[in-house]
Amino acid sequence: MTTTAGVLNLSSAEIQRVLEIEERTFPHPWTLADLEWLSQEKQSLKLGLWQGENLVGYVIGTIEESVFHLANLAVDVPCQRQGWGSRLLRTVLDRATELKCRSCRLEVRHSNMAALHLYQKFGFAVDGVRRRFYTKPVEDAWLLSRPLPAEPEPQPIVVYG
Ligand SMILES: CC(C)(COP(=O)(O)OP(=O)(O)OC[C@H]1O[C@@H](n2cnc3c(N)ncnc32)[C@H](O)[C@@H]1OP(=O)(O)O)[C@@H](O)C(=O)NCCC(=O)NCCS
Repeated sequence: MTTTAGVLNLSSAEIQRVLEIEERTFPHPWTLADLEWLSQEKQSLKLGLWQGENLVGYVIGTIEESVFHLANLAVDVPCQRQGWGSRLLRTVLDRATELKCRSCRLEVRHSNMAALHLYQKFGFAVDGVRRRFYTKPVEDAWLLSRPLPAEPEPQPIVVYG
C-alpha cells in the first residue's frame, strides 16, 4: 500500500510534533517555547511534510520586510535522502516569493555537510561567518543567502543520438 505524501501549512497546534522531529534531528534542538514563539510570529511561514497522518518534516521561518529568514528545516531520519528536504525547501522558497520576499537568509553549522550541500544545490552563497554562534557543541555558523524568486533546479542533460 502506498501512503500519500504532501507539503501543507502547519498550524500552531502541530508544534508538539515538530518538536519531536527537532529532538531527533538536531544535536542541540530548539525548545517547545522557542518553536511556539516562532510559530506565533504574525509573519511566520511554516510548512509540514506529511506522509498520511504522520508529520515527517517541516520548515519554519519568518518574513521581515522583503527578507525570508529560514529558521529551521528538518526531515525525520528514516525519510532523509529521498528528496523531501528539497521538496520542502523548494515549496517554502516559492511561498516566500509569492509573499513578495526578494531574498532568503539562513545560518547553518560549519559541520552540517548535508544541509550545506542542499543549500548549495539551491544556489545559496556564503555571505560570512558568525563566530561561536551555536552551543552544544560550540561552533561557527555560515551565513547563507540567495535571491528570490528561486531559479529552477538544473535538470540532467539528456544527450540524444
Ligand atoms: C538537511 C536535510 C533537511 C536534508 O533533507 P533530505 O530530505 O535528506 O534532502 P534531499 O534528499 O532532498 O537531498 C538533497 C541534497 O542534499 C544533500 N544531502 C542530503 N543529505 C546529505 C548527506 N547526508 N550528505 C551529503 N549531502 C547530503 C545532497 O546534495 C542531496 O542531493 P543528492 O541526493 O542529489 O546528492 C536533512 O539531512 C536533515 O533533516 N538534517 C537534520 C536537520 C538539519 O541539519 N537541518 C538543516 C538546518 S540549517
